[in-house]
Parts: sequence; C-alpha cells; structure tokens
Amino acid sequence: MKTILKYEGKGKALYSTETAGELIQIFKDDATAFDGKKHDVIAGKGKLNCAISSYFFEELHKAGIRSHYIRRENDNEMRIRELAMMPVEVVVRNVAAGSICKRLGLEEGRTLKCPLTELFYKDDTLGDPMINTEHCELFGWAKTDDVRAMRKLARHVNKIMSDILEKVGIRLIDFKLEFGLLDGHIVLGDEVTPDGCRLWDIETGRKLDKDVFRRDLGGLSEVYHEVATRLGIQI
Ligand code: TMP
Ligand code: ASP
Repeated sequence: MKTILKYEGKGKALYSTETAGELIQIFKDDATAFDGKKHDVIAGKGKLNCAISSYFFEELHKAGIRSHYIRRENDNEMRIRELAMMPVEVVVRNVAAGSICKRLGLEEGRTLKCPLTELFYKDDTLGDPMINTEHCELFGWAKTDDVRAMRKLARHVNKIMSDILEKVGIRLIDFKLEFGLLDGHIVLGDEVTPDGCRLWDIETGRKLDKDVFRRDLGGLSEVYHEVATRLGIQI
C-alpha cells in the first residue's frame, strides 16, 4: 500500500509504504524530453515502461546484478528498496548518437571501437552537464570508488542487455543508468526502459525508443509496445 509522496520526477513518482526501506515507484504516462522542455501525456506509456523495466530488472538479477527492484505490484507500480541515490547519470554508448555527435562532431551511427561510459550531473536547470570522476569526488556526488563500481556495473549491464536485445533483432545503441547506495554498496536504481535507451532495429535501423517522441517520428506507445512484444513481455 502506498502512502506518502516522497519524490516526483518527470516520468515517475515515489511513495513510501507500510514497510520501512521499501517504496512504490509509479511510472507515469508523461513523456518529456530536452530536460522537460518538451512534454506530452501518452496513454499506456506508464504501464509499458513498468512492464519493460520489471522485465530488465529481473533479467539483470538472474545475471547477478543487484538493483532496487523487489517486484511489480500492478500495471504501473513497482515495489523497490529505498536507495540513497547519487545525482549522477551513467551513460554507456556502443554507437555514436545523440549528444556525443553534437559534442564531438561524430556521424550518427558510427560504431565505437569499444563501449564508452560517460557521466552527467543530474540537474535539469543546468541541462545535465557532462562531468568526470573528479567532479563527483570534489562536490561529494559520488566517491571515486563508487564511480568505478558504477562504471563496471554499467558495462556489465550493457553486455547483458545487448545480448538480450540482439536476440530479438534490436541493437542497443546507448543507455543511461542511475545508481544509489544500499548498506554502503552501489546498487542499480531508477528504471531501464526505452525512455533512457536508444534502440534501433538491426535490419532497418528504425528507431524504437524515445527519439520517436523527441523527433516526432510517430507513435511512441506503438514502438514501446513493439519492443515489449519482441521481448515476449505480457502487457
Ligand atoms: P544523450 O545522447 O542525450 O547524451 O543520451 C544518451 C542516452 O542516455 C540516451 O539513450 C538517452 C539517455 N539519457 C537519458 O535518458 N536521460 C538523460 O538525462 C541523459 C543525459 C541521457
Ligand atoms: N535529457 C533527456 C532527454 O532529452 C531526458 C529528459 O530531459 O527527459 O530526453
């Protein structure tokens, strides 16, 4: 049972529960991009993201990755462990797309020689600026050892997710993860959904992620539904 609203973000909200240390994470139907400057409400998106994120957290758990996920409670609610979240976004890139293309003048679609990890400071008003390990340590956002652990986990997640998606004809281009501390250990938090990934059809290159919304390429819930169906997820 959810009780008090603890936090509300653009796409999710967190409520406390009757059990100390456990929260309910609600996936909203809101779609936002460009640090909240573009906004829409897309019926069914929360349910799709809750289903897809639950699926990935369960697959990651099987592969030995600890996350805040406990179980899916219902259509758009997930029970999670409360973490002390770090205000740092860890992005893993396999192929150049999005901000790295602008920043470094790369051509979209260029495969990187090996996966690249990048860090961003989670602050919409600043436009989520790119940072490095020294910023994290200096400003107290994450300790150097914790950044190392996050990068290692993010690379491991990349391998697991890339393999799963490749089997259903989808290429994992890049994605963003957020981590927190539980009993002093780094644990995966937040969500793993097409909102925070770039997913391209292997055959055609068609985009199956939030770029459809960012760039007005068509119906967002249709492509998220396609991702879920290909993965065999019951909606
Ligand atoms: P970027 O190309 O905009 O840096 O994004 C890289 C990937 O990380 C892309 O799949 C989107 C995801 N991402 C988010 O979901 N939220 C964010 O705030 C950022 C910076 C990236
Ligand atoms: N910066 C990311 C985007 O453009 C996340 C967000 O702002 O919602 O989609």
